[in-house]
Amino acid sequence: MSSRDQFTSKIGFILAAAGSAIGLGAIWKFPYMAGTNGGSVFILLFVLCTILIGLPILIAEFMIGRRGQKDPITSFKEQAPGKPWFMIGWIGLVACGLILSFYSVVGGWILSYIVRATTFSLTGQGNDFGALFTDIISNPMEVLFAQACFMILTLVIVQAGIKNGIESASKWMMPILFIFFILLFIRSITLEGAFEGVKFMFIPDWSYLNGETLILALGQAFFSLSIGVAAMITYASYLSRKEKIVTSAINVATLNIAISLLAGLVIFPAVFALGFSPTEGPGLVFIMIPAVFEQLPFGSFLLLVFFILLLFATVTSSIALLEVVVSIGIREKTAQRKKASSLLAAIIFIVGIPSALSFGILSDVSIFDRSIFDFVDYVTSAILMPIGALLTSIFAGYHYSKKISREEIQASPILYNVWLFIVRYLAPISIVAIFINKVFFS
Ligand code: PFF
Repeated sequence: MSSRDQFTSKIGFILAAAGSAIGLGAIWKFPYMAGTNGGSVFILLFVLCTILIGLPILIAEFMIGRRGQKDPITSFKEQAPGKPWFMIGWIGLVACGLILSFYSVVGGWILSYIVRATTFSLTGQGNDFGALFTDIISNPMEVLFAQACFMILTLVIVQAGIKNGIESASKWMMPILFIFFILLFIRSITLEGAFEGVKFMFIPDWSYLNGETLILALGQAFFSLSIGVAAMITYASYLSRKEKIVTSAINVATLNIAISLLAGLVIFPAVFALGFSPTEGPGLVFIMIPAVFEQLPFGSFLLLVFFILLLFATVTSSIALLEVVVSIGIREKTAQRKKASSLLAAIIFIVGIPSALSFGILSDVSIFDRSIFDFVDYVTSAILMPIGALLTSIFAGYHYSKKISREEIQASPILYNVWLFIVRYLAPISIVAIFINKVFFS
């Protein structure tokens, strides 16, 4: 949105917020993170973090954004003059830029799969899906070209002002994607040996309960809700005062948990039934989805449709990421929007190149025992997002008088008090405790 127009309908806002939230986080990242961190315990912690910490902070971001009605930096400066709270906006800019730098790499993989799927060459001939994925992501020319195409696609949508069109198209695209997931779930769960996957997801193996799992689950909750990076503050700045922010936030959080679990229920039963490994890493979904489609009639065709829908879900998130970077980067200087967005997109693309190559020619490079791609992901999800969320929570809890926040939240007294307790005490203390635990005890 280039001007300060508001969302014309409540559903418009929920679609934009949900569209930005639901993307690769739930569908691609959640299954592989759960897979590499023992399944059940990670999933349990993720759900708890989403409900107890993420949701209240999401409400806080909606409140801050709507009160400010400006980009996050101007908004914090106006709401708290002379105080350093606007730094939350800068953290958001850096974090969203870094997220988009590797998000576009995965977006590129999706494009590569779509091109292959158009010739129906992904399924049907007893393919080795693991080898196929490795082939694609280790080819430097292909990944860079695909990443660039994805970035250009995102940029064009943001610049052409067709973002609203994309978001309203997602009104019917997302439900179809959901139906696909149900279909895949039915196929996956009825494979022989599938139940092992359900056990992996729901029967806790407490040996995985440690500081690392906790911080990763917290990061996953923040990543998939898009909080801690001023994104939801930016979106809510277009929201009119009439909307009930609590209901919108609950909708976004519920959808997020539902899609994450559903994605897990498609992937893990098939992983165990078809003899794959849950610890495949970032390739897990790309390997498993074709494997499940192969078990379906018209699998090759359906796979193509699926990847197109997945591209859609991914693009509604990537445009949010670029939108936040641009809106913070240029603030009120809307006249330079086009040039600035091209420049920022180009910088983000360049920053993403090492991540794109980290599965191929840069696979030997590691930073603190992580590949470049993993490292950038870890820095954003497990460090920047929790710091941003911590500050946002404290700001919402202490900066506003109770009278103001009560009016903004428009919830029952009990609900309001629970929210206030969480943003004042539970969320900040938990985030700090999770950090301390990770740094000193694991
Ligand atoms: N929540 C998005 C996802 O789960 O794919 C990722 C994301 C989008 C994070 C926008 C942050 C953001 F501002």
